[in-house]
This record gives sequence, structure tokens and C-alpha cells, in this order.
Amino acid sequence: MQSDLLPFAIGGVPVTHMVESYGTPLYVYDGQKIVSQLQTLQRAFTGVTLRLKYAAKALTNLSVLKLLRGAGADLDVVSIEEAQLGLLAGYRPGQILYTPSGVSFDEIVQAVEMGLEINIDSLSMLEKLGRKYGSSVPCCLRLNPHIVAGGNTKIQVGHINSKFGISIDYIEDIHRVVDRYQININGLHIHTGSDIKDPLVFMQSANILFGAALRFPHLRFISFGGGFKVAYQPGEYGADVQALARELVPGFRAFCKRYGRDLEMWFEPGKFIVSEAGYLLVRANVLKQTPAVTFVGVDSGFNHLVRPMFYDAYHEIVNVSNPDGPRRRYNVVGYICETDTFAQDRELPEVREGDLLVFRNAGAYGFSMASNYNSRPRPAEVLVYNGKAHLIRQRETLQDLTRNQVIVDFE
Ligand SMILES: Cc1ncc(COP(=O)(O)O)c(C=O)c1O
Repeated sequence: MQSDLLPFAIGGVPVTHMVESYGTPLYVYDGQKIVSQLQTLQRAFTGVTLRLKYAAKALTNLSVLKLLRGAGADLDVVSIEEAQLGLLAGYRPGQILYTPSGVSFDEIVQAVEMGLEINIDSLSMLEKLGRKYGSSVPCCLRLNPHIVAGGNTKIQVGHINSKFGISIDYIEDIHRVVDRYQININGLHIHTGSDIKDPLVFMQSANILFGAALRFPHLRFISFGGGFKVAYQPGEYGADVQALARELVPGFRAFCKRYGRDLEMWFEPGKFIVSEAGYLLVRANVLKQTPAVTFVGVDSGFNHLVRPMFYDAYHEIVNVSNPDGPRRRYNVVGYICETDTFAQDRELPEVREGDLLVFRNAGAYGFSMASNYNSRPRPAEVLVYNGKAHLIRQRETLQDLTRNQVIVDFE
């Protein structure tokens, strides 16, 4: 347990030790927390055949993928490259659900040839799949249910204006294509967005899925997507997955009875599995006062953690070096030549130049969304497991930045 008297530790390893070994900025993941989040879902959804397809895009480090495979997860991927990472981490092709959006048909063909489970999100690609493969390649359908989910408009993807999925209004068109080519529909899928706390959103999706499923006789599974909220701010609550299970599991079982046989229940959690397990460790480079604001400039920016700027996401910040300092208000900003504000008007124990700060909830969509903007190398990554810190990705160097450049000499 974290105590003010103890140094700030992740998985039992003090952050100061890890920073001494690997420097800052540094991503650190608590492996035990990752596994326990998966187990929370495994334990909640009992009484059905459950498959948890970890949404790899949240954090694709191979060691994390391997850890999750060992704990019983499958994968959800959005690109051939993510699928290849999954294979490198030891997943079988059949464990991997390929859920792309807006990719070329050539990429879907590649996914078929790799033996992945295929999730189709447009009528055009369904038509092409049917024309090429007929009934020989089963596929899942990603439906757009026209549901507005969660409170953050930037991460809602199940509404009528979203690019994702095939509108539920086009169900007759779907059937026309499926019948024309005798396509074997083996799954139905809805994912409505991220940060979803209310079980009702999943129940609304379930009603739409159950209604649609009765007309597809060859289903093996129904996927309810991902999007479980985690708590970001002190006092905030995440999704109550036990409460969801209490509603969804009996509904699912009753549906399977009506359907005539048991189906598998799938989810694709990303954030729920890795968000709280991840921390970004940064150093305060500079304190700067204006007549209006006190800025803390840290040795990172939206090149390493873009969520606050991209999604208005809140990340709790801990001043590890001065936990008992007098509390003051700061704008915590990055070192990138853009307005990269991590936190505005945030109360923190007094920050001094050189202090070590920790961003919480940085495991999901942190490193995986990082870039080299301003020619800054991406951070190293460390996975703590069984009380030991393992370097799982080296900090990038200038060589990494120039590796694929072809230098043309015009002199
Ligand atoms: C199809 C699909 N499934 C699952 C997820 C994971 O969402 P979350 O990380 O909020 O659980 C995403 C995220 O973008 C997604 O697009």
C-alpha cells in the first residue's frame, strides 16, 4: 500500500530506483495490476463462455501482450501490424479479432490469409468479401447502433454520425449482401466508445445485438466491445463491471435459449486492463511565473502523452520529490513547441525545478500514441512484475530518428 512515509513505489519498486537506472521521461507498468484487471473481468462474467479480446491499441508492447496471453486474454487488433505483434507475442491467429476501419480490401485479404477473425465495418467491404470468398470465410459484423455513450464527445463512436460500423438502419441491406453471397456471419459486434460507466449503455447495445442476432443462424459469438471507464480523478468511479455482469449475463443466457444454442460472450477492453497500471515519470525542468499563472515545464509533452490535449483527459499528477510541500496551483506543461498543457490550474505540493512528477493512469493510449514530434526520442518502458523492474523498451536515440531517412546530398 502507498503511504506518505514510504517512497512512491510501483509494484513494490521505488520510482526513484527506476529513474536512476533508466532516466526520465519513463513509462512504467505494474504487471500485477494488469493481470488483476483482466481477472476482475474473468471473475465478473461467469456462467457464460467468456473471451476477453484485449484491445492491443491501448498498449502494444510485446512483453505486455505476452503477459496478458499468459493470463488468458485473446486480442483485438486494428491493423495488420498489430496482428503481427500479436503473433510475435505468441497468440494464435484464431485468437485475434481484426477490427479495422477504413482499410483497403487488400488489407482484409491479408488478414484472411493470416487466419484472423475478421470484423467487417462497411457494406462495401462485406460485398467484396462475399464476392471473393462466398461462404468459405466467416466474418463478424460491426454494427453502428446509433447510441451516444459516455460523456466525452471525442471518444464516442456508436452514434449516427460516427464513421464506425454499419448503421443498424441498413440491416436489410446487410441481409441482401449476406444472402447473395451466402456469407457465413459468425459474430455480431458493437463498440460504442470509451469511458462508459453506465451498464445501461451495454444493455442498449445488447438489445440491438440480440434483436439482430436471431436472423443470423451461424453465430459463434457476440462481442459487446470495450470502453469500460476507469477512475481518473480522486473520488471518481470507474465502470462497475460486476453490476454489468449481473444484468448482462442473465440476459445473454436467456437470449441463447431463444437462439437455440450457447454463444460466446466477447469483450474488447483496452483502457480497463492497462490504464491504471501505467505511470509516466517526468522531471520538472523549469518553473516560470507570469502575472497570471505559474508554469511547471516538464521533460515531456504531447509527443509522449497526448491524451490531455487530444481528449481533454485528466491525469492525476503526484509530486514524488516533495509530497508534503505547501500546496500551490500550477499549469503543468510540456517542452514541445506547441501549447501542450497537461494540467491547468492544478493544485500540487510545491514543485521545484528537478522534482520528479508522476502522471497516473498513463498505461492506455500513452506510449502507443507517442510520436517523435520535435525530433524527441520516445521514452523507455519498464514492466514491474513480481517485485522486479524489467526494461521492456529502450529509450530511442538519434539513430532511431534517422534510421529510415534517405539522405540526398544536393551540394
Ligand atoms: C473496436 C474497439 N474495441 C475496443 C476498444 C477499446 O476501448 P477501451 O480502451 O476504451 O476499452 C476500442 C478503442 O478504440 C475499439 O475501437
